[in-house]
Amino acid sequence: MLYVDGKWVEAGVAAVDPEDRGYNFGDGVYEVIRIYKGKLFQWDAHIERMERSAKEIQMKMPWSAQELLDIAKQLMDKNGITAQDDATLYMQVSRGNSPRVHDIPGDVKPVLMGFARKKDRPLADQKKGLKAALIEDIRWLRCDIKSISLLGAVMVKQYAKDTGAQDAILHRDGIVTECSAANLFAIKNGELYTHPANNLILKGITRDVVIELAAKNGLTVHEKPFDTKFLLQADELFLTSTTAEVMPVISVDGQAIADGQVGSVTQKLQTLFEQHIE
Ligand code: PDD
Repeated sequence: MLYVDGKWVEAGVAAVDPEDRGYNFGDGVYEVIRIYKGKLFQWDAHIERMERSAKEIQMKMPWSAQELLDIAKQLMDKNGITAQDDATLYMQVSRGNSPRVHDIPGDVKPVLMGFARKKDRPLADQKKGLKAALIEDIRWLRCDIKSISLLGAVMVKQYAKDTGAQDAILHRDGIVTECSAANLFAIKNGELYTHPANNLILKGITRDVVIELAAKNGLTVHEKPFDTKFLLQADELFLTSTTAEVMPVISVDGQAIADGQVGSVTQKLQTLFEQHIE
């Protein structure tokens, strides 16, 4: 069961207006939210970020945080997500339906769509780690907005897959930004490095949680840019996202990171994250 513009509809039946600006222009914003054992994780942070994204594209969100929460809870109920289940919730707001012009129509009404489905945590991959490919960051210059225009992310992820890797690590002129749909951390001499939260990356909510957990547990975190040479010489790499959590990266372009095993700092952060979500 999906929520589409005020109605509850079955997945195969939901329809999009051909002139929905989300559909025509990718004109909209979204969030992917984790549900652990039937509970929404970091809900307030996701809604705050969604409201910020909407504001940055000059879109007024007509729903209160409470109304969005009611819809999220109904999505869980209607999709059989109980206190036993891990799941994900997707919510997107498109600018709405209007005859196609590029500039923003004055009278357009945003369209909210949401779905929720059961999804296990990727524990096996978290033990093994992923292989990544290093790819030029071809995305736009407002990666801080969680926009539904994701063609750049689609393309870099596919390039990575085509080379036999599971994800793309992106760089702009040699400076590492993030991954196709996750933030990236490097560890050198026991300290964490990650790109600062500016217009070139999405300020991930998992990133924020990990930075806080690291700092609370005596690890130094540098939110500053680093280059591809530093990346390849790191002691450990991991990426973070709502769905991946703390996911080790064990090789880049076929080159092992350190000894190619999941590192001890990454494992420590995985444990801290695990304890945090329990
Ligand atoms: N992606 N960077 C990008 C470009 C992302 O798309 C995401 C999330 C993140 C991590 O953000 P968070 O920790 O808040 O999930 C970083 C989601 C999961 C997606 O598009 O499926």
